[in-house]
Amino acid sequence: MIIAPSILSANINNLEEDIQKIEKSEAQYLHIDIMDGHFVPNLSFGPNIVQSLRKISTKVFDVHLMVENPDEWIEKFATAGADVIGVHYESSPHIYRTLTEIKKLGKQAEIVINPATPIGVIEEVLPIVDQVLVMTVNPGFGGQAFIENMLDKIAKLDDMKKKFGYQFKIEVDGGINEKTIQKCKKSGANIAVAGSYIFAGDIEDRVKKLNDVIED
Ligand code: DX5
Ligand code: ZN
Repeated sequence: MIIAPSILSANINNLEEDIQKIEKSEAQYLHIDIMDGHFVPNLSFGPNIVQSLRKISTKVFDVHLMVENPDEWIEKFATAGADVIGVHYESSPHIYRTLTEIKKLGKQAEIVINPATPIGVIEEVLPIVDQVLVMTVNPGFGGQAFIENMLDKIAKLDDMKKKFGYQFKIEVDGGINEKTIQKCKKSGANIAVAGSYIFAGDIEDRVKKLNDVIED
């Protein structure tokens, strides 16, 4: 399973130091939350931050767009250094086109669904995506409690993946800690985003702890 620390919970007063700790850790991804104050009730980072981080990190940049009109933003984040670009199903009526555009830019395309969104509505894009992100909290903030009902959703998605032979990875985001990561893994998740859990302690140690519990 891939661990993706979310820099939303990093120490912004000393971001470089935290990024260096992530570099040294076993994490393979760096999860970057982009919030526009409209799609979600919070603001976070823009493309310039991604561009700056690109100079100091070799991790896979997993850019999670929580914005209205994602089509306006994908090229900017692709140029800034994103490797994976995640767009919410709920953010555009033309999400198939958005995902296709991400692929055309040479990036990995990810569809993201909110807790209230059922899997059925993304069925038609599953053959073209590289990742599916199942939100395990309502997006907008770090530090929220994991929504247990989402485990069924992950398992259903994993069943569908096996039934049709799809290759996409299943990612989970929100409320991930040593306990919830194990449940997600059992249900079929391949990537776990963790913010508050990782940054509330020694970064390298927390990433290792997550890795250790899922190896058991
Ligand atoms: C929430 C973000 C998450 C957030 C997770 O909208 O998408 O990536 O950073 O934070 P934790 O792990 O604290 O729930
Ligand atoms: Zn996120």
